[in-house]
Amino acid sequence: MSDSKHSGERVELPAAARSGTVCTASDYDGMYARSLDDSDSFWAEQAQRIDWVAEPTKVADWSFDPVAISWFTGGTLNICHNAVDRHVAAGNGARTALIFEPDDPDGTVRKISYAKLQRDVITMANTLKKMGVSKGDRVTIYMPMVPEGAMAMLACARIGAVHSVIFGGFSPEAIAGRIVDCRSDWVITADEGRRGGKPIALKKNVDEALDKVPNRGVLVFRNTGCPVTMVEGRDHWFHELSQDVPDDCPCEPMAAEDPLFILYTSGSTGKPKGVLHTTGGYAVWTETTFRFVFDYRENEVFWCTADIGWVTGHSYIVYGPLLNGATALMFEGVPNWPDHDRFWQVIDKHQVNIFYTAPTAIRALMREGNDHVTRHDLSSLRLLGSVGEPINPEAWRWYHDTVGKGAIPIVDTWWQTETGGVMITTLPGAHDMKPGSAGKPFFGICPQLVDGEGAVLEGEAEGNLCITRSWPGQARTLYGDHDRFVQTYFSTYPGKYFTGDGCRRDDDGYYWITGRVDDVINVSGHRMGTAEVESALVLHPKVSEAAVVGFPHDIKGQGIYCYVTLNAGEEAGDALTAELRQWVRKEIGPIATPDELHFTPALPKTRSGKIMRRILRKIAENEFASLGDISTLADPAVVEALVAGRKAR
Ligand code: PRX
Repeated sequence: MSDSKHSGERVELPAAARSGTVCTASDYDGMYARSLDDSDSFWAEQAQRIDWVAEPTKVADWSFDPVAISWFTGGTLNICHNAVDRHVAAGNGARTALIFEPDDPDGTVRKISYAKLQRDVITMANTLKKMGVSKGDRVTIYMPMVPEGAMAMLACARIGAVHSVIFGGFSPEAIAGRIVDCRSDWVITADEGRRGGKPIALKKNVDEALDKVPNRGVLVFRNTGCPVTMVEGRDHWFHELSQDVPDDCPCEPMAAEDPLFILYTSGSTGKPKGVLHTTGGYAVWTETTFRFVFDYRENEVFWCTADIGWVTGHSYIVYGPLLNGATALMFEGVPNWPDHDRFWQVIDKHQVNIFYTAPTAIRALMREGNDHVTRHDLSSLRLLGSVGEPINPEAWRWYHDTVGKGAIPIVDTWWQTETGGVMITTLPGAHDMKPGSAGKPFFGICPQLVDGEGAVLEGEAEGNLCITRSWPGQARTLYGDHDRFVQTYFSTYPGKYFTGDGCRRDDDGYYWITGRVDDVINVSGHRMGTAEVESALVLHPKVSEAAVVGFPHDIKGQGIYCYVTLNAGEEAGDALTAELRQWVRKEIGPIATPDELHFTPALPKTRSGKIMRRILRKIAENEFASLGDISTLADPAVVEALVAGRKAR
């Protein structure tokens, strides 16, 4: 272990990790160079691990100015065939594809082989067809973390329908907004979900959403068996509609650039963005990143703790692992129920080899003490992963020393919904680690740091993180709004993809993500647009104005801090605080619940009326000494009142 002021602490890769790896340090250097210098042949080679119905005639075909991105043009394929059928055809049907660990530790574990997965996906695909779904239709999936959620995605992909998975924690309003945005006529849901011992009223939320936006059909799984209302002609029980469907269903051949899925994520403006991924590039990217980043070895158990409602679940519970013929664990529960040892107990129970989770979970579990970890046998673990937000070195240390017993590598993987898969990480058999740094660019990735004016920063530097070349898994557009796609990602620094993240590169060429530089905050590894929370707050009849910023939070990474001004005559107080928290939960969902509500008679504004967020951020962070220039404010006294209010909290 060495220490350097500029390049951070270096934790050497254990010798055992370097042997038998898919990619050594020198492999990485050669492959990375080739992935840029001879990009087409590099990606054509990776693409050979995919079964194509028709081989691509061109590998990369893209421009960032104007923005048009295509990969594997001329190729046709079906990702469900690649994730499921081909493994069965190759004689691996008996291999376990999914292990389901239920919320309740005493509940029933399910082990689903590739052959069973194929049969179940075929049944579901034919049921969707029977309901009326056809190629190109958008299908909303609002499911609990049960295998049927993954099967629903695969069934859509099989018949060429475009899935739009909505995280089970989102509200009816959020569901309705997403259904309208992508004009989705179909919903797949379940009666109810469970998490941490509590029920989640999925079907009821769908019903409320569909009161606003009528739909053609809803396919409902019986999960907990709770009573639900079924709307005649619209709602179908899966177990009824699936009776008598045929037991074969050919995989629809899709053009490489045919849409595979839409996934909504937050941006700087109020309206969520429907990030669109297409079939061929995403398949190659998730297959390749999974293979190299997790160095997956046959028969290992891989566990990614994300929900399938997030991109991490799409790429590393469903597509990446299954494309590799891996065994993926799907967990319905939460890390701290019934007790704080649930993760460690599951690792022991299922002999998990690769464990991939988020810093927020690590921090929360670290706080509960080591006994929860040490009372379980974690010796099956070979590799640990982190994703979603920067991991603070203290949490990294604990993860490494207490969970990994100091003996196994950690991959800290930086990526985004828009990138489809991992972009910056160390590779587990190739690179030493640095706590807090994601590491090196993955194959084909060309990161660039620029200053506020767009000047390129070379060598050791800190700036805004851009990517200068396309990669196969890149989002192609925002559904139905290509202008917004161009505007959001390619207009700040024309000709480059701007990630929205700040970043430092050290003298070893390691990248250190410093967090978002736009009005997006990262709450427990989930992206939240401050504008979304503001829009929700101002919908409340008593609220006049709201400004929302992030502030440091021990567990969540960032918490949600809301400054609120009320309409004349309205009284601030505990009751209204509770009411507004509840209001935002209802509008967006529990993940958007404000941590702090700060009532103020006025917000700091420039003379032209623009809210000075920089100042609000500093006050929320308790950084009163560095408020910067406040002379341009219309009324500088507002700041004093806000500081006093913050100190009093
Ligand atoms: O700010 C970065 C942070 O999460 C953002 C992407 O969020 P989302 O699209 O929801 O995808 C999350 C899972 C891929 C990024 O812009 N982020 C993600 N991973 C890391 C990270 N920040 C630092 N280190 C990471 N490993």
